[in-house]
Amino acid sequence: MKDLELLINILKQRGFVYQSQEIYGGLRGVYDWGHLGVIMKNKIKSFWLKDVVFKRENIFLIESSILGLKRTYEASGHLQYFNDPLVECKNCHQRFRADHLIKGDYGEVEFKEGKALCPICKGELTEERSFNLMFKTYIGPVEELASVAYLRPETAQGMFYNFKNILNSYRPKLPFGIAQIGKAFRNEITPKNFLFRIREFEQMELEFFVKPEEAEKWFNYWVEERYNWYLKLGFKKENLRKYIYPKEELAHYSAGTIDIEYNYPFGFKELEGIANRTDYDLKRHSEFSNEELKYFDEKNKEKIYPYVIEPSVGVERLMFAIFCEFYDEDEIEGEVRRVFRFPSFLAPIEVAVFPLLSNRKKLVEKAKEIYFELKNEGFIVFYDDSGSIGRRYRRQDEIGTPFCLTIDFQTLEDETITIRDRDTTKQERLKIPEIKDFLREKLNF
Ligand code: GAP
Repeated sequence: MKDLELLINILKQRGFVYQSQEIYGGLRGVYDWGHLGVIMKNKIKSFWLKDVVFKRENIFLIESSILGLKRTYEASGHLQYFNDPLVECKNCHQRFRADHLIKGDYGEVEFKEGKALCPICKGELTEERSFNLMFKTYIGPVEELASVAYLRPETAQGMFYNFKNILNSYRPKLPFGIAQIGKAFRNEITPKNFLFRIREFEQMELEFFVKPEEAEKWFNYWVEERYNWYLKLGFKKENLRKYIYPKEELAHYSAGTIDIEYNYPFGFKELEGIANRTDYDLKRHSEFSNEELKYFDEKNKEKIYPYVIEPSVGVERLMFAIFCEFYDEDEIEGEVRRVFRFPSFLAPIEVAVFPLLSNRKKLVEKAKEIYFELKNEGFIVFYDDSGSIGRRYRRQDEIGTPFCLTIDFQTLEDETITIRDRDTTKQERLKIPEIKDFLREKLNF
């Protein structure tokens, strides 16, 4: 997928994702999700839970708060380190991330007397200053220093400040994990590239606590596990790659990070990061809270700070990769067909049901009967009787529906229907009682 504008238009038109508050001019870097997008996001989250949490032992879920104390983010280091370098044009007042500007992310940069100029109007830029990415707010009616709070910039801190609660509630043995899916907020200087860099997003994060001497082994383990998950989701190997961070690029808490990158329309960029956060977070929260966040190692009869390995991915950034990966165009009967070739288990509408003709009562009745039966079985089904069959197929192709069932005159005689495959466009006849098993097998992740 190279034409990002076309993709954004299709996703808006067909009800996947909208610019937030567009009727007021839009809120930059913030998106709202429509019916189809919400279904897909929920599927992705459930596949992540299945793979990262439920198929394993000793991984515990948590849902921690979005609002955080100033003290929490002093401890985590975000108040001190979670900054981007900001420059502003003195002429047009556009703001830029200085590091991205130099890399050419805003277009070609001209220099005057060794200083970069605004890539938009060639105006002079201000000196670089540090800009903290956290959203600040106040708790209670008085905006005073004591009531300052922050919207969390990552879900991870909830796992660290609840470490003792998890130990007390479940008494897990190392290695064990705490996992969370939830919103995170970052006041990005220049949100851009559609869903790639946004200000409000969901993260799927695991904090996997291990013995310090085993950190390297588990780090490599999780890089492989997470990479293989993307292959299982249907990504092509050539669109994924691993990027090993050089020391100078590491986050303040990390002793080693590998990104799984995806080949977005603007090139390979981070999709998921896997970091070895060492014992940084538990030590810092122990220090700032005066609660000793240590684990008692029964074998050696000693208390230790475990190390933590953290795979973390943003749901929206992943959705963007999925849209790019599976969008395709081909030609049918001389017409361009736009199609999302989502794997069946990812498709928002799993099966569509059509009566061949909308003005034949018996066909419509039978189609409705099958439609409700499949809905009652838990499938996500769409009913359509408007326009020609060809048009109806095309509408489903454009939202990635893998199967369309057509009820025709033969159905009324022998209880068979045609099932049309989105990718091959081939049709075969199936007996009605066989449909559910057929779909169940195809939709399994
Ligand atoms: N807890 C570690 C952490 O937050 P990160 O690399 O800053 O590390 C993890 O973020 C993941 O969250 C990224 O790999 C990306 O998928 C997603 N993410 C981060 N910032 C984002 C943004 N502004 N918009 C969309 N997704 C973002």
